[in-house]
Amino acid sequence: MFNGRFSLFNVSVWVLTVYLVFHVPLIEMRVDDFEQQALAQAREQPPVSTEKPEPINQHLKLGKCFHMPRSKCPAEPNCTKVGSMSVFCCDLDSARLKEALASSITQNTTYLHVLNATIDELDVSQAMFRRLTSMAFTDGNIDKIVVARKESMDMNTTRQFPKHSSVACLNISNNNLTSAKLQPAIQRPYAYLFNLSVLDASANNLTEFPLSLVHSNRKISVDLSGNRYLPCKNFMKAMEENNSSLVTFLKYRDTYCALDISFNWFKDVRVVQIDHLRIQKEVLNESCRNIKPANINCTCIPERLEFSGDVITNLVAVDCSQRNLTSLPTNLPHNTVKLNVSYNNITSLQTVADDSTYEHLRQLILDHNDIPYILELEGTKFIDNFMLFSIAYNKLKTIHTYVLSNRFYKTGLALLIAGNYINCDCNTEKTLKPWLLENFKNIPDYKLLLCDDKVPVVDLVESQVCHTPRDWTDYIYYIIGLEVLILVLLISKVSYDYWVFKTAGYLPWPANKMPRLPCDWLCE
Ligand SMILES: *[C@@H]1O[C@H](CO)[C@@H](O)[C@H](O)[C@H]1NC(C)=O
Ligand SMILES: *[C@@H]1O[C@H](CO)[C@@H](O)[C@H](O)[C@H]1NC(C)=O
Ligand SMILES: *[C@@H]1O[C@H](CO)[C@@H](O)[C@H](O)[C@H]1NC(C)=O
Ligand SMILES: *[C@@H]1O[C@H](CO)[C@@H](O)[C@H](O)[C@H]1NC(C)=O
Ligand SMILES: *[C@@H]1O[C@H](CO)[C@@H](O)[C@H](O)[C@H]1NC(C)=O
Ligand SMILES: *[C@@H]1O[C@H](CO)[C@@H](O)[C@H](O)[C@H]1NC(C)=O
Ligand SMILES: *[C@@H]1O[C@H](CO)[C@@H](O)[C@H](O)[C@H]1NC(C)=O
Ligand SMILES: *[C@@H]1O[C@H](CO)[C@@H](O)[C@H](O)[C@H]1NC(C)=O
Ligand SMILES: *[C@@H]1O[C@H](CO)[C@@H](O)[C@H](O)[C@H]1NC(C)=O
Ligand SMILES: *[C@@H]1O[C@H](CO)[C@@H](O)[C@H](O)[C@H]1NC(C)=O
Ligand SMILES: *[C@@H]1O[C@H](CO)[C@@H](O)[C@H](O)[C@H]1NC(C)=O
Ligand SMILES: *[C@@H]1O[C@H](CO)[C@@H](O)[C@H](O)[C@H]1NC(C)=O
Repeated sequence: MFNGRFSLFNVSVWVLTVYLVFHVPLIEMRVDDFEQQALAQAREQPPVSTEKPEPINQHLKLGKCFHMPRSKCPAEPNCTKVGSMSVFCCDLDSARLKEALASSITQNTTYLHVLNATIDELDVSQAMFRRLTSMAFTDGNIDKIVVARKESMDMNTTRQFPKHSSVACLNISNNNLTSAKLQPAIQRPYAYLFNLSVLDASANNLTEFPLSLVHSNRKISVDLSGNRYLPCKNFMKAMEENNSSLVTFLKYRDTYCALDISFNWFKDVRVVQIDHLRIQKEVLNESCRNIKPANINCTCIPERLEFSGDVITNLVAVDCSQRNLTSLPTNLPHNTVKLNVSYNNITSLQTVADDSTYEHLRQLILDHNDIPYILELEGTKFIDNFMLFSIAYNKLKTIHTYVLSNRFYKTGLALLIAGNYINCDCNTEKTLKPWLLENFKNIPDYKLLLCDDKVPVVDLVESQVCHTPRDWTDYIYYIIGLEVLILVLLISKVSYDYWVFKTAGYLPWPANKMPRLPCDWLCE
């Protein structure tokens, strides 16, 4: 991936100028007196591009980057010409920079190196820089780099930027720069950096990777060594298959990136050499090809990088959606934390329980399959660990809520079940509906779980689905009523017998037919 050859480099970047030579006719722009001077020179003389370069190749790096060592710094004055096309300056501050450059940059100047500039603001789109193909401000202290400061109040179009920037090499190495100092000039780097092919931003303290480099379709060589806090995930993006042929990292071995690692209770940053990322990627590609069934061409991407001990671990996201699968894939890459198998014809979840490569899974997306129930997940590591379980638009007929129940105390955890048609009965109303209502925070689409007749489960009404138990309780009341009636009749009969016995002296039927009991003497 490291290609040290000269002259192949194209680029893009942070700063600078729009190249609209072919699209927009030359329109005079607002200029200050300084720029007018440059423009005056431009009108007097033929365009630079027609001139023959002089042999100053001994000072050119990568064929296009003009760079002089400190030992060649001029004595008074601070700037000197090197050949007829190059200007080299040392030790300038804001006050002296303009003056010094104005007096030494001519129409013929195409290379500029300013060593140790201590300046508040560098406007790289100034007219006097317009003819430069190599611009280097190195080993100084720059507070801010801007593009077209004067026009920045009118944000509407790119027309405000200089019409054409020839800069092919930009060296802003070792200027104590942070990403904040480059913003907002760099929000849309491409728009201004049409001819840039080498960017040296080494030895600064940048924290944001110029990702737009990757999105342009141009070849670029970038030196980002000596910036310790650029995020690894951006480098990974730049090193992806299609991008790696576009972005070449100069000083590859000396380029590091910052890996976010989060444990349960603290966050930390590890700085790693970017070649580790390439190795991880190759290991991943290899294991991705080993997913079974063979030749289903799942895609595997690093979801996150983590440290375990001193080893970088790639947490992997696997996408096997729309592969006409009838069962879950097996032999996933090590540390697969996310699996998308939506839009297949999968009918069983048994693999989740059986295949040990599922043990790190946190997110399982199974939408649009043919799963009838989730019972097979009972007791699996996935159920213990999952953060996202999406089983929407399947063939669930029932939901065994106890398989999932212990997990819903955790916030951020989500179960998606929309578009399943449950067999609804009184039991559904008595258990599933309250369960949905209780856990609605973890089941965002709970209103879309439907019964066979397309009524949402949460809209089930007891009186409509629970007939049998109601009838039964009614009978109980009749029986109790009957028993009470019989009791009242019995008491009345006994009372009547007693009254007849006391007044008339005989016992009415049937008491007179009953055998005498010992207690009768007591009564008499
Ligand atoms: C940019 O400047 C730095 C610091 O002076 C120097 O080491 C480096 O070689 C230059 N890069 C290029 C591409 O000229
Ligand atoms: C640059 O110019 C300033 C004032 O003109 C002077 O003080 C300083 O020494 C000069 N530096 C060099 C390297 O000539
Ligand atoms: C850089 O330039 C400033 C003046 O602008 C000077 O004071 C300082 O000493 C220079 N740094 C080095 C390392 O020469
Ligand atoms: C620019 O270069 C041309 C031809 O090389 C030369 O005639 C002219 O004097 C130069 N102009 C300046 C300002 O150096
Ligand atoms: C910016 O563009 C919008 C429409 O594209 C226009 O209405 C507005 O007047 C423009 N603003 C300026 C400052 O040109
Ligand atoms: C951009 O570079 C190409 C070739 O590298 C060159 O032909 C073209 O003139 C350059 N454009 C500008 C504006 O310098
Ligand atoms: C780097 O820049 C910061 C401000 O962003 C400043 O406080 C610090 O002194 C600078 N460091 C050096 C070595 O100039
Ligand atoms: C570089 O940036 C990081 C993160 O913003 C900061 O913690 C660190 O102090 C900076 N280092 C220097 C030398 O400015
Ligand atoms: C790479 O580019 C090709 C063709 O431009 C495209 O089909 C493919 O999807 C791209 N691959 C990636 C990973 O972007
Ligand atoms: C997977 O890729 C191989 C090789 O590119 C191809 O032969 C095969 O048909 C692909 N399989 C599917 C299911 O797309
Ligand atoms: C899936 O099957 C359909 C129809 O049988 C077919 O058109 C499609 O190409 C298949 N897809 C894959 C990835 O095999
Ligand atoms: C597979 O599922 C798709 C919908 O996801 C469906 O159209 C197709 O008929 C199913 N194929 C089989 C063989 O069941």
